[in-house]
Amino acid sequence: MSGLSSQQIIALEEKYGAHNYHPLPVVLAKGKGVHVWDVEGKEYLDFLSSYSAVNQGHCHPQIVKAMQEQAEVLTLSSRAFHSNLLGVYMEYITQLLGYDKVLPMNTGVEACETAFKLARRWGYDVKGIENNKAVIVVCENNFWGRSIAAISSSTDPSSYGGFGPYVPGIVKIPYNNIAALEEALQDKNVAAFMAEPIQGEAGVVVPEEGYLQKVKALCTKHNVLFIADEVQTGIARTGKMMACDHENVKPDILVLGKALSGGTMPVSAVLSRDEIMLCIKPGEHGSTFGGNPLACAVAIASLQVVIDEKLAENASAMGEIFRTELRNLNHPIIELVRGKGLLNAMVIKTNEETEHHWNTDGELAWNLCLKMRDNGLLAKPTHGNIIRFAPPLVINEAQIKQAVHIIKNSINQVVAVPA
Ligand SMILES: Cc1ncc(COP(=O)(O)O)c(C=O)c1O
Repeated sequence: MSGLSSQQIIALEEKYGAHNYHPLPVVLAKGKGVHVWDVEGKEYLDFLSSYSAVNQGHCHPQIVKAMQEQAEVLTLSSRAFHSNLLGVYMEYITQLLGYDKVLPMNTGVEACETAFKLARRWGYDVKGIENNKAVIVVCENNFWGRSIAAISSSTDPSSYGGFGPYVPGIVKIPYNNIAALEEALQDKNVAAFMAEPIQGEAGVVVPEEGYLQKVKALCTKHNVLFIADEVQTGIARTGKMMACDHENVKPDILVLGKALSGGTMPVSAVLSRDEIMLCIKPGEHGSTFGGNPLACAVAIASLQVVIDEKLAENASAMGEIFRTELRNLNHPIIELVRGKGLLNAMVIKTNEETEHHWNTDGELAWNLCLKMRDNGLLAKPTHGNIIRFAPPLVINEAQIKQAVHIIKNSINQVVAVPA
């Protein structure tokens, strides 16, 4: 549209934008379903889905239609007034997901922050924790954004380093460790335990089967709220509507974002039961854009697409095929392949694990992503030597096989395995 080349556009970003990201060098101009195209017209399979925001596929016609129709009528009323769609959306999402109430926000980080506030307030008003003493327990290697409370929860120095002082009242324990949780919950001031059912940004870390069940049971025993951050894992990504559904666990507070709008605009939500949600009174929390009519129309359409197109079932089936095919490559640089549904990761061996010198500080994973880009597939490393594969959930078997073919060829082009 601008007539500029990829190189020219990247140079503009570099010159005029803050340097807070390190994107793979590819400049996208169009998306449809599982595909995206760069400004030169080259086609790619999108294996990141904008960090799982585009579960329904790029520019899904039903979502775009809902967005266009609503955009012509009313986009924002603010919460100073009611809109004709807010109550309708609230009924829809709470009935669908089985909660009494929803609190609408915009981004994932805002929704997680909301869950923190809600849990603290419940801790004081219902549990009876002494004022200003509430503790929220989180897991090491969690990721829920870059706000001050989010980085205060982080154990990643590149997230929190140099941004102190940090928010007090946060205790960090190892993920997938029930004994550590049990110990942390001995403190009577704990209001909530917040965790991702699968740690996405940490590299698609899947806990042991039964972990979520045990978490919920322990939280119930100690009168502590279980907050599930399903911003990345929710909305069919892992092969169930929610990742917690794999263990039939219902969190006390459920946090959603990303795919709640099919990647069209920021829409997030916090869901809970009355006893918790009604702790927040008028004026104590909110956002100008939270629950706006455009977001309501888009969120209803986005959830309906997931149901109508059976995207959870497809994610489950396609994920099985993808992991099996990737494991069958049996390539010596692949340490392991893990994931659930279409949230997967390939871990690449480090130098210490091989006698070769393929991999230095995540260099191989980065080079492999560049090669896959050249061959028509987009993915990005997370934490150096881990590559996440998370395509839109509308992907079919032929496209999965095409992707595995590209990954295999790209590995062979990047590392020459000695005979
Ligand atoms: C689990 C989880 N929670 C929260 C967030 C923050 O969402 P947002 O970037 O929309 O603020 C993310 C983003 O990647 C996430 O993966």
